[in-house]
Amino acid sequence: MIQNNLEHLWMPFSANRDFKASPRMMNEGKGMYYRKPDGTPVLDGTAGLWCCNAGHGHEKIVHAIQDQAAKLDFAPSFQMGHPLGFEAAEKLLSIAPSSQFQYAFFTNSGSESVDTALKIALGYQQHVGNSEKTILVGRERAYHGVGFGGISVGGLHLNKKHFSLLPNVEHICATHNLEKNSFCKGQPDWGKELADDLLRVIEKHGADKIAAFITEPVAGSTGVLIPPKGYLERIRGICSEHDILLIFDEVITGFGRLGAPFAAQYFGIEPDMITCAKGLTSGTVPMGAVMVKKEIYDAYQQEDPKVIDLFHGYTYSAHPLAAAALIATLDVYGEDGLFDHANEISSYWEEALHSLKGTDHIIDIRNLGFIAGVEMEPRDGKPGSRGYDVFTDAFHNYDTLLRVTGDTLALSPPLIAEREHIDSLIETLRKVIPDH
Ligand SMILES: Cc1ncc(COP(=O)(O)O)c(C=O)c1O
Repeated sequence: MIQNNLEHLWMPFSANRDFKASPRMMNEGKGMYYRKPDGTPVLDGTAGLWCCNAGHGHEKIVHAIQDQAAKLDFAPSFQMGHPLGFEAAEKLLSIAPSSQFQYAFFTNSGSESVDTALKIALGYQQHVGNSEKTILVGRERAYHGVGFGGISVGGLHLNKKHFSLLPNVEHICATHNLEKNSFCKGQPDWGKELADDLLRVIEKHGADKIAAFITEPVAGSTGVLIPPKGYLERIRGICSEHDILLIFDEVITGFGRLGAPFAAQYFGIEPDMITCAKGLTSGTVPMGAVMVKKEIYDAYQQEDPKVIDLFHGYTYSAHPLAAAALIATLDVYGEDGLFDHANEISSYWEEALHSLKGTDHIIDIRNLGFIAGVEMEPRDGKPGSRGYDVFTDAFHNYDTLLRVTGDTLALSPPLIAEREHIDSLIETLRKVIPDH
């Protein structure tokens, strides 16, 4: 059956009226391709929404979910458990940056993971006696999902407009600088000192007031902002020196996007907590997680063991289908060598992308691992309109799925992509962008 009435779904982060006037629909997915309802294949340049890292319809993951649905559909998650939830936590932690990460808290999305991590951080500081450490610090141009915590520490104006925000939140400056760093391959040389903006916040409030700093190691949704060399190292140093918890939001950078399990391993920097989602189940079943170090979990275990230690959780935390999907997905990443593949193909990716330099309207190309941003010059007085036109043209006329944020294309193919897929994606960009 083809669904003709599109009116009643209020689509997230979408121009609803324009979509419904000229829909962009996908009906099937296999490997590197979606299919439109008429059967036309669509090359996936974005792993869905940065999540289908194992490609679409991987049989092992599909079967794991099907089998689990038939065996145990749901089990209560508060004060009760089911074996796969525990197995999923152990499996996830087996690829954590170090053995210090001994606990995983499951959520259903990146937004929930972020809000969970922020709450855990605030509670931790109370538990260890830092009762005045109540300020959360984020960064301009950061995206941490859409919960009230996430939009508050996030740095995107339009996502905050109209909404009440958390008090006690500060932001440091973003690292993106076109004048200094445009067309840089990999991490820019300039900008590590921007980390010192965290010192400004510390000076303003006092380190004894600051609970945690949250950052995307590579900002994705806000246009692929690559951290300058030395920047994250400096952030880590400042947080350690001032007893501020460092949270890496790895909802995009986790699960092979940089050719390593997490950005933490890629950069060789260990945060205190990691939030993740998306690639955790290769996008198949909604699931997120917060990985924490032992000392954080332990801080919550001081009272009577019969009393709840963390007053927080979701009905669907460690949902059986999601847990089954996680276990199968991490198996697939390992068995198919997808993190290594992403790592190996990243230099081809880099060269292919930068061959677009000189194409009309392109003002920057940036890349790291298997992720890239292609920034286009905004039209006078109409920021975002060129990006939107390129995105829709690529879908309708070149059967290619791109992701656009403002006038920046954010590219992140499934980790199974081969050179021919990269070539096709780049040739589409070469043709589409100058037309707009
Ligand atoms: C870094 C980061 N954090 C959080 C989120 C929110 O994830 P979700 O849409 O699953 O709530 C995203 C989504 O793109 C993200 O990129």
